[in-house]
Amino acid sequence: MGDKPTIGWIGLGKMGAPMAQNLMQAGFQVTVYNRTPEKAKPLTDAGAALAGSLAELAAGCDVVISMINDDAALEAVAMAPDGVLANAKAGGIYVDMSTVSPAASARVAETAAGKGISYLRAPVSGSTVFAESAQLIILVSGPKEAAETCDAAFAAMGKKTMNFGEGEEARFMKLTVNMMVSITAGLVGEALAFGESGGLDWQQMLEMIGESPLASPLLGYKTQTLKNRDYAPAFTIDQIAKDLDLILSTGQGTNASMPLASLVRQNYETMREKGEGNLDMFAYVTLMEDLAGIKPGE
Ligand SMILES: NC(=O)c1ccc[n+]([C@@H]2O[C@H](COP(=O)([O-])OP(=O)(O)OC[C@H]3O[C@@H](n4cnc5c(N)ncnc54)[C@H](OP(=O)(O)O)[C@@H]3O)[C@@H](O)[C@H]2O)c1
Repeated sequence: MGDKPTIGWIGLGKMGAPMAQNLMQAGFQVTVYNRTPEKAKPLTDAGAALAGSLAELAAGCDVVISMINDDAALEAVAMAPDGVLANAKAGGIYVDMSTVSPAASARVAETAAGKGISYLRAPVSGSTVFAESAQLIILVSGPKEAAETCDAAFAAMGKKTMNFGEGEEARFMKLTVNMMVSITAGLVGEALAFGESGGLDWQQMLEMIGESPLASPLLGYKTQTLKNRDYAPAFTIDQIAKDLDLILSTGQGTNASMPLASLVRQNYETMREKGEGNLDMFAYVTLMEDLAGIKPGE
């Protein structure tokens, strides 16, 4: 493998498509595959090669990268007889950048080891905007030599790459961050509804919080959308509910105590049952307002 290994990219969704674009822009030769083939068109128009199947992609590229939904997608893509591990080059590298459980990832690791394929876990922190601007933080664990081979590719997609170990550490790091993000949405929602219940002005409350020591980059992004009561999704309730399920099942296995994550997950379930799974996760405040009988704008 030279300075720029050939890349096979699987999963051209909201995150995968801009990440693959950034690899191409950095000069990598990229072959793409997407389960729904039409989504590959913008990439092939920009010069990517198209693989007709996972097997074809895996057999033809030095490094195969997937950015797909969840555990079920990972198992289908990595472990199926016509999937990546059964067809990758001996000595090749498989990188999965999705948010999945350490347990599913460990099953992939075991199969990869049996086939002589180096397997990197490389989930990312940052939303679609960060994927588009190549500003993701890439959390890596797995064999060191493979991580070094992929360094330039990671640098093309992110602003920082951090290595956490040789096993499932990167999966745990990603879930740790998402646990904090989800509980932050719960904390902000509950506190804002409390302030409203005392008659505080919505805009002024948000302005004050933005000036306070609580201000953070995350609250900074969210202050304007909250001010506008705009709950168009950057990260949906359905998506964070999936991540909270991964967190809770993983933490049960490691004996972690997770009362806050459990409570936030339960409240998101209530919102899903009301048909609100497609709203942004910071719409949590609307549930708190409902429970307090607060009708914004009245
Ligand atoms: N969106 C974010 O802000 C964000 C931020 C950080 C991390 N993440 C994580 O990044 C991953 C991808 O997220 P996304 O927002 O890009 O999701 P997305 O837009 O829903 O795209 C998912 C991709 O996975 C493919 N896929 C799903 N199941 C598959 C299967 N069984 N076999 C083959 N391909 C399959 C989809 O193919 P089709 O086109 O055929 O459906 C699509 O290309 C998730 O794990 C998510 O948690 C997302």
